[in-house]
Amino acid sequence: MTKILHVDSSPLGTASVTRQLTASIVEALVKAEPSATVVARDVAANPPAHLDGELLQVVKLGVVEGLSPRQSEELALTNALLDEFLAADVVVIGAPMYNFSIPTQLKAWIDRLAQAGRTFRYTEKGPEGLAGGKRVIIASGRGGVYSTNPALAGLDHQEAYLRTVLGFFGITDVTFIRAEGIGMGPEAKDKALAGAAKEIEGLLVAA
Ligand SMILES: Cc1cc2nc3c(=O)[nH]c(=O)nc-3n(C[C@H](O)[C@H](O)[C@H](O)COP(=O)(O)O)c2cc1C
Repeated sequence: MTKILHVDSSPLGTASVTRQLTASIVEALVKAEPSATVVARDVAANPPAHLDGELLQVVKLGVVEGLSPRQSEELALTNALLDEFLAADVVVIGAPMYNFSIPTQLKAWIDRLAQAGRTFRYTEKGPEGLAGGKRVIIASGRGGVYSTNPALAGLDHQEAYLRTVLGFFGITDVTFIRAEGIGMGPEAKDKALAGAAKEIEGLLVAA
């Protein structure tokens, strides 16, 4: 039984393109395998706090004694986010491009997942990912078009970053379902959404 983790990060609710796409992807996955379970994690509605000094002590530096109530809560949240991520066979992530990168809420979620001993470890040969074996499907939304324009490809720190950090966790099965040119007028937006819908169909054929 496949466990699906459905992560959204756009704050735009029903107007969000990436939310529309992640919903379609999850719907298609469940249609293909009705016994699959889905856990939803909305990091825009409930954003993990940024790693300030108090949180770093427990979330990254391993302090476990004399914790403040906030530190205890945040440690528990970090472990819950990690357990949920590690338990998933398929992770569907809605990732808008924001200022050439990703929304701060999505980054805050990833900052909780990046834990030595859980998603990666350092060995004598260098870092090793510990979260391999899962499939990640990313619904990528962008106002401009980057994938087919070599002059702009270098500005993409959104998909490039996600691929890098997931690779660092040992995850190599990463698929991008892309809706680009969302800010280039209604026609371009419709075309992008139709293209993404086709890619979602293809996703299941390929699965
Ligand atoms: C704060 C903000 C920053 C953005 N930065 C970029 C950008 O750097 N490049 C780009 O192509 N589009 C940019 N966009 C457009 C979004 O990537 C695009 O509208 C996308 O569809 C947003 O996903 P959503 O509809 O799921 O919220 C930005 C949008 C917002 C709201």
